[in-house]
Amino acid sequence: MSVNKEITRITTSTIQELKNRKEKIAMLTGYDYSIARALDEGGVEIILVGDSAANVFAGYETTLPMTLDNMIYHASAVVRGTKRAMVVVDLPFGAYQGDINDAYKAAVRVMKESGAHALKLEGGVEIIENIRKIVETGIPVCGHLGLTPQSIYKFGNFGVRAKEEAEAEKLKTDALALQEAGCFAVVLEKIPAKLAAEVSASLHIPTIGIGAGNGCDGQVLVVNDMLGLTKGFKPKFLRQYLNLYEEMTKAFGQYVADVKAVNYPNENEQY
Ligand code: KIV
Repeated sequence: MSVNKEITRITTSTIQELKNRKEKIAMLTGYDYSIARALDEGGVEIILVGDSAANVFAGYETTLPMTLDNMIYHASAVVRGTKRAMVVVDLPFGAYQGDINDAYKAAVRVMKESGAHALKLEGGVEIIENIRKIVETGIPVCGHLGLTPQSIYKFGNFGVRAKEEAEAEKLKTDALALQEAGCFAVVLEKIPAKLAAEVSASLHIPTIGIGAGNGCDGQVLVVNDMLGLTKGFKPKFLRQYLNLYEEMTKAFGQYVADVKAVNYPNENEQY
């Protein structure tokens, strides 16, 4: 068997080292093999197989319909596309908030069947025993606080979270509880930058922000959003690196025109 010694897989230790030496962590979501290859080659350290696949891949309004089977399907495709990046998978809504043994079984299934390297769970003290059990099983867990999309019907909207003192205090308590339970990182979504910076400084594990300012130890975006694929979606925190929707529409239009004009395939494009 030949082993490529030049490519070293990013692990939770690498992620912790990045925080220790104050180098920011780059995370993006990914849902399929082709984009995972490009993310890996582009140097992204963590690929999050987010349940945002429900929105950007499947067209649902919320992430709630995502199933364990859906997540395993996306995650295994992403794992096959990577050599270096660490692949973190969201446990979907309903798979881990209840009975501790159900949470454990869901976690083990994703790890066994997808080949991913870690999981992400939304929530704080309410699910801490379930997180502890998964971590004790040997599975790295990333927490997720602030705007947690699986609770969208409780929040009622996608607005900024923890602007009020009581919610900010709860978030700080949750972050410390996640660290104490053994999480290797915590995603902070859509909270004030000042609060995110304070939480990041108070934890020894890294924080990864989305809409949480540059005081976090790393950043994450939904890949379809940063590529400009999600037409019409432009929250304040989002930087669009491409306008792929426009580029694709142009390419599709050109293809249609070429086929109609019998300009494709040409002589060099046939056998
Ligand atoms: O599902 C997802 O893509 C996420 C990110 C927004 C952090 O949880």
